[in-house]
Amino acid sequence: MRCLVTGATGFVGGHLCERLVAEGHEVLALARPGSRRGVLEPLQVEIVEGTLDSMNVFARVASSCDVVFHLAALTKALHRREFRKVNVTGTERLISGLARGAFQGRLVMLSSLSAGGPAPDPNTPRRIEDPDRPVSHYGRSKRDAERLLRRHVPEGAQYTILRPGAIYGPREQDFHQVFRTLASWGLIVQTTRPVRLQMTHVEDVVSALLVAATKPEAAGRTYYATDTATWTDREIMQLAAEALGRRVRTVTLPVWTATASALLLDGLGKLARRPIAPLTRDKVREMNAANWFADATPLREELGWQPRWPLPDGLQQTIKWYKAEGWL
Ligand SMILES: NC(=O)c1ccc[n+]([C@@H]2O[C@H](COP(=O)([O-])OP(=O)(O)OC[C@H]3O[C@@H](n4cnc5c(N)ncnc54)[C@H](OP(=O)(O)O)[C@@H]3O)[C@@H](O)[C@H]2O)c1
Repeated sequence: MRCLVTGATGFVGGHLCERLVAEGHEVLALARPGSRRGVLEPLQVEIVEGTLDSMNVFARVASSCDVVFHLAALTKALHRREFRKVNVTGTERLISGLARGAFQGRLVMLSSLSAGGPAPDPNTPRRIEDPDRPVSHYGRSKRDAERLLRRHVPEGAQYTILRPGAIYGPREQDFHQVFRTLASWGLIVQTTRPVRLQMTHVEDVVSALLVAATKPEAAGRTYYATDTATWTDREIMQLAAEALGRRVRTVTLPVWTATASALLLDGLGKLARRPIAPLTRDKVREMNAANWFADATPLREELGWQPRWPLPDGLQQTIKWYKAEGWL
């Protein structure tokens, strides 16, 4: 396949490009001027300079590509308008550029469980038939990007949308910050309200992207791409502590302290003109919803997706990588 990858310089995009090249596919990697390209440099990929506003670039390469993997997005921002500019308007421009260039292949968009929202109740995973109820600016921007894609997919092209929950693995930066606190201070900081979620290893997300790109039956479909097991934030931290071989102390704080910390961090972020920590007010909106799990049975049964990494093994592998690379 000849594939265009947006978000190629990001966490998931880097892993996707590595896998595509290893499997012998041709990769055009969209990279903004000034993006970090370290992961892409040793790979046989063609760098295409541009942003999500570069409609001419998309129009130029469209007819030569079999698949477009659309991963570029803002996952953290301080203002709703920033999410909308990149995630919604950016997706619109990509689709318009591809349509102008007569793209006839499969457009696979990596969306998010946040676009659907939390599970309807603590015992029932969210299913694709459930009405979307996003609770964050991020989630609403991803939902609206999906809607655009469904309505305006270029004539003669097909789309598939994947909605993973939290993704972890080597090179991921937000969990890394949490694990670094754990490794340095032996401290788990949690609030009185547990958050229950599914964690998917980045290699498994990449496998899901590949089946979404290649299976005919995936055309026009949206799938949750989440692990079967659910874990609370406490359990995840305990697993990470075991992988680190670290004895830990737990500090439990009232829920309002997360909001207060996020307000402070967002205030500092406004001075720096970017989020300075994984915790933002928008992330607190999601944490308050508490139950983040979905049913990925259709992706497994219809497309044969087989995730390889149970969380305890995946965390071991990830923490081993962070240590080997000097990140911890
Ligand atoms: N990580 C997760 O836990 C998670 C969970 C569910 C869904 N997702 C989805 O997975 C996708 C990839 O996430 P990620 O974790 O890999 O994010 P990431 O590491 O933050 O990467 C984001 C990518 O988007 C690019 N980008 C941002 N704004 C852009 C713009 N205006 N024009 C062109 N490119 C732009 C970034 O380029 P630069 O390198 O130049 O910044 C980077 O390549 C996203 O669509 C996200 O919504 C992620």
